[in-house]
Amino acid sequence: MPRISVKVDGIAYEEDVEPRLLLVHLLRERLGKTGTPAGCDTSNCGACTVMLDGKTVKSCSVLAVQADGSDIVTIEGLAANGSLHPMQRAFHEEHALQCGFCTPGMVMAAIDLVRDTPDPSEEAIREGLEGNLCRCTGYCNIVRAVKRGAQEMGQAVKSS
Ligand code: FES
Ligand code: FES
Repeated sequence: MPRISVKVDGIAYEEDVEPRLLLVHLLRERLGKTGTPAGCDTSNCGACTVMLDGKTVKSCSVLAVQADGSDIVTIEGLAANGSLHPMQRAFHEEHALQCGFCTPGMVMAAIDLVRDTPDPSEEAIREGLEGNLCRCTGYCNIVRAVKRGAQEMGQAVKSS
């Protein structure tokens, strides 16, 4: 069985994995990162989105062996020193979730979008999040939250 090394939310792990094991299952079942949901396992819903070496991937579309040597950030690794990431805070304040199942993937995708497009238009937000599905909210509050999160991420960069 191949042995892989990964860093997840700042902690290094070495794991023996079956070649067919999906990254989402490594995260959830072996490393206890249950904040990353598995919605469809077919790369449709986006709920399983994480950052792999700084770019978002749907972790159900990546084999754990493909992640060998990489640095992964999940929704559980975003808060720093007990404070939510500005995008997490914006989702909370704009009521951008109902059941919350899609939220980890939405937040990760939104952060990636804002890093590439710091002041996204509504259209850019809708396009940027098209790989992430929400069954509950109708998306309006999500779009508002991403707009607000983008502004707050910009302010955080300016004041750092
Ligand atoms: S669980 Fe990965 S995209 Fe749905
Ligand atoms: S809040 Fe329920 S799926 Fe998005």
